[in-house]
Amino acid sequence: MKSKFIDSHAHLDDERFNEDREKLINELSGNGIEMILNPGADLNTSKAAVSLAEKYSIIYAAVGCHPHDSKYMNDETMNIFRELAKSKKVIAIGEIGLDYFYDNSDRIVQSKWFREQIRLAKELDLPYIVHDRDAHEDVFKIMKEEHYDGTRGILHCYSSSVEMAREFIKLGFYISLGGPVTFKKAKTAKLVAKEIPLDKLLIETDSPYLTPEPFRGKRNEPNYVKYVAAEIANIKNISVDMVAEKTNENFKRLFCL
Ligand code: NI
Repeated sequence: MKSKFIDSHAHLDDERFNEDREKLINELSGNGIEMILNPGADLNTSKAAVSLAEKYSIIYAAVGCHPHDSKYMNDETMNIFRELAKSKKVIAIGEIGLDYFYDNSDRIVQSKWFREQIRLAKELDLPYIVHDRDAHEDVFKIMKEEHYDGTRGILHCYSSSVEMAREFIKLGFYISLGGPVTFKKAKTAKLVAKEIPLDKLLIETDSPYLTPEPFRGKRNEPNYVKYVAAEIANIKNISVDMVAEKTNENFKRLFCL
């Protein structure tokens, strides 16, 4: 095993890393991690993501507001995201999208700020990272309506169908698979891993959430991304090195790194 992995989505600013964040980050490279994209989920976590990225070369940041907190969004917040995005380590807008499972913000408010932040990605010519939970149709509808020349990004912790994945790819997106692909009952995610070509896939942990097998239930960490890669390798009947190599290439192609 010579390849290192890129974790395309991890929240190392999360309070669950408060006790050992620095140690964990310093050990990432030795644990087989080449790079991490740390997205923001609101104003404070976006600021925290940028601070981490400025401090550690292995970390890149995205700034944006998760649908859960879209009720707290306003034009001032958008201006702060604009300012934060001036950092060279900010490579995307995110995570943004719709979440109809928790409905923490009103759906109309979620939609409004999803659209506004897609327009911010367009204005700044950055890829955007999409969170979609139980809102596949509306997410696709908004992305299609807001589509522009140069649209690109990631469907993070992808949970919809193979057919929808193909549509998102046509819009300029990569499909990122996380811990759930390792769960026995995750038939759809496994089917996506099988059917979607490797040159359109990324891997992630969504740390500290969605821990893959065999650590399900524990705090997730970026180095567990190897279990996601191993499951995809197993499903596609290819080597884990091949999964690492190709998903790294995809990530670097998307973000011009
Ligand atoms: Ni996330």
